[in-house]
Amino acid sequence: MNQAKMQAVVYTQYGPPEVLKLQTVPIPTPKDDEVLIKVHAATVTAGDVNLRGFTFVPDDMKLLPRLAFGLRRPRQPILGTEVAGEVVAVGQAVQRFAVGDAVFGIGSSRLGAYAEYVTRKATGALATIPAGLSYTEAAAVPFGASTALYFLQQRANVQPGQQVLVNGASGGVGSYAVQIAKALGAEVTAVCSTHNLDLVRGLGADHVIDYTHEDFTQRTATYDIILDTVMGALRFADCKNALRPGGRYLAVAGGLREMLQSVWNKQVVTGTPREDAAGMAALQAMLQTGQIKPLIDRCYPLAETAEAHRYVETRRKRGSVVINVT
Ligand SMILES: NC(=O)c1ccc[n+]([C@@H]2O[C@H](COP(=O)([O-])OP(=O)(O)OC[C@H]3O[C@@H](n4cnc5c(N)ncnc54)[C@H](OP(=O)(O)O)[C@@H]3O)[C@@H](O)[C@H]2O)c1
Repeated sequence: MNQAKMQAVVYTQYGPPEVLKLQTVPIPTPKDDEVLIKVHAATVTAGDVNLRGFTFVPDDMKLLPRLAFGLRRPRQPILGTEVAGEVVAVGQAVQRFAVGDAVFGIGSSRLGAYAEYVTRKATGALATIPAGLSYTEAAAVPFGASTALYFLQQRANVQPGQQVLVNGASGGVGSYAVQIAKALGAEVTAVCSTHNLDLVRGLGADHVIDYTHEDFTQRTATYDIILDTVMGALRFADCKNALRPGGRYLAVAGGLREMLQSVWNKQVVTGTPREDAAGMAALQAMLQTGQIKPLIDRCYPLAETAEAHRYVETRRKRGSVVINVT
């Protein structure tokens, strides 16, 4: 029997954005514990760009994604970490979702959302989209928000009244870090370039620092938490004097150096969030209560996914870049 077909953006080799090609491929079949999602929106995260060209992978870590995702060429030929869409089929064992549900989720190792259809495990990092949120908006949430929540809440246990500085506050992770730190009751200082100052104020930042004019590490102000999303710009040693006693440096984009430092120095924190149903439920609740709002920079059609990757590689994106699939 001929399997039904769909459009997808496929890559068969690592490299520049041009390796991404629009192709016709079979629609995947959901296993017993999976749902089939008709994809309405996906995104281009730093994670997707890393798995194509290792762009934001620190030099001392470049081998790691190849070990996990294919040494010479990618094992999963369709990228797409974040997804929002409609459930159109469910496996026999699925109880959490039904056909017709509008869902959003994340799958950094599973991928596959640069396509008209994708399968995801029903018990995994998937949740129904809160009322009033579009597919485009929902797709823009899980990657940045789950990372910010993991570092600020689970790892640093941010408390009301604490001083939190977010470096890279206008980006995919930083824009949620500002909002989540505020939701946790912190006083937030956002660091970004001149043209993003109003944007981060709008996200709730109490104070802003324009890094093109001022180096926050040279100020006298000190912080309980410095959350750093900018690869290669700072080291713990640079931030040490800006940290209060017992303060923590959350190296979101840290490399091997920070990972090793974190073993013996409790002030340095590295890691990766678990992607699971509980994490998605937490984001769903924060969206419902208005504690976080998606920030969308640009939208591209599926056929222009390579162009979207090119834009993300500039490292200038504000919030998320969305691929509107159908
Ligand atoms: N540990 C984890 O599990 C995890 C999870 C997610 C992401 N990450 C890593 O975190 C990093 C950030 O991801 P992202 O999605 O937030 O990236 P992104 O959205 O591409 O970041 C773009 C933002 O970075 C800002 N920026 C660039 N250079 C800067 C500088 N020198 N100082 C301050 N801001 C600067 C830009 O603002 P301006 O235009 O104002 O400069 C822009 O808004 C990536 O390296 C990614 O691999 C790690």
